[in-house]
Amino acid sequence: MLQVKDLIVCFGPAVILEKINLYVGEGEVVGVLGPNGAGKTTLLSAISGILKYTHSKIVRLSGEIRFRDEQIDNLTAEEIARRGLILCPGKRPFREMTVIENLRVGGFLCRSKEEFKRNLETVFNLFPILKSRAKQVAGTLSGGEQQMLTIAMALMAKPKLLCIDEPSAGLAPLVRKTVFEKLKQLSKQEGVSILLAEQDARLALSISDRSYVLSSGKIVAEGTREELLKNDVVRSSYLGL
Ligand SMILES: Nc1ncnc2c1ncn2[C@@H]1O[C@H](COP(=O)(O)OP(=O)(O)O)[C@@H](O)[C@H]1O
Ligand SMILES: [Mg+2]
Repeated sequence: MLQVKDLIVCFGPAVILEKINLYVGEGEVVGVLGPNGAGKTTLLSAISGILKYTHSKIVRLSGEIRFRDEQIDNLTAEEIARRGLILCPGKRPFREMTVIENLRVGGFLCRSKEEFKRNLETVFNLFPILKSRAKQVAGTLSGGEQQMLTIAMALMAKPKLLCIDEPSAGLAPLVRKTVFEKLKQLSKQEGVSILLAEQDARLALSISDRSYVLSSGKIVAEGTREELLKNDVVRSSYLGL
């Protein structure tokens, strides 16, 4: 459903992503693993189209990105979102707004009240805690609840492919596990394909069908959990496991 071909991203003279080739199949959960600075956020920004709006005028991008048999690298971020490729950024929800107000922002693509209600129901089924906190101001939620709200905002746009950036960031180990279980549930129950950028390799491997290992802007390994863990160099040098 997603194909990235020979993607190169440069910020001025610095090459940030070097000839990235990857794909996500229908219904797959695919990990992009790598430490801080590897280029994960840049990759998701390029795919979802938001890299075009960076303040820096010196971004250069080449290669081809296709989504559901259509070239998308020349489309705006909104056009890409309308096709069902939704980015869940590594950011928290709007703190001063309530849970439901945040979900309304996430649901900006809904074409009718009925569609909004349907999406809201799906989201509340997956995250019942958000239903009981609907009128609570987002800044007063726990870290884990805020992360779930961020994911829920993306789900309000009914993604076919969810590109999610570092869902474990800033969360305690137990809460991380809960969030990742939700992602797994989302892929199994709703059939959403997921491209998961993540530093916590162990956790990401536990829910991914396949993964790519990104190091300094290059893909240095790819495979299933078993294949990657079998390789001692990958395991110790790149995944820290
Ligand atoms: N707007 C920008 N201008 C210049 N360099 C950037 C910009 N954004 C990110 N970078 C650089 O790109 C590299 C990859 O960053 P990033 O994609 O955020 O990695 P990750 O998400 O894996 O931590 C880093 O070296 C970072 O300093
Ligand atoms: Mg990042």
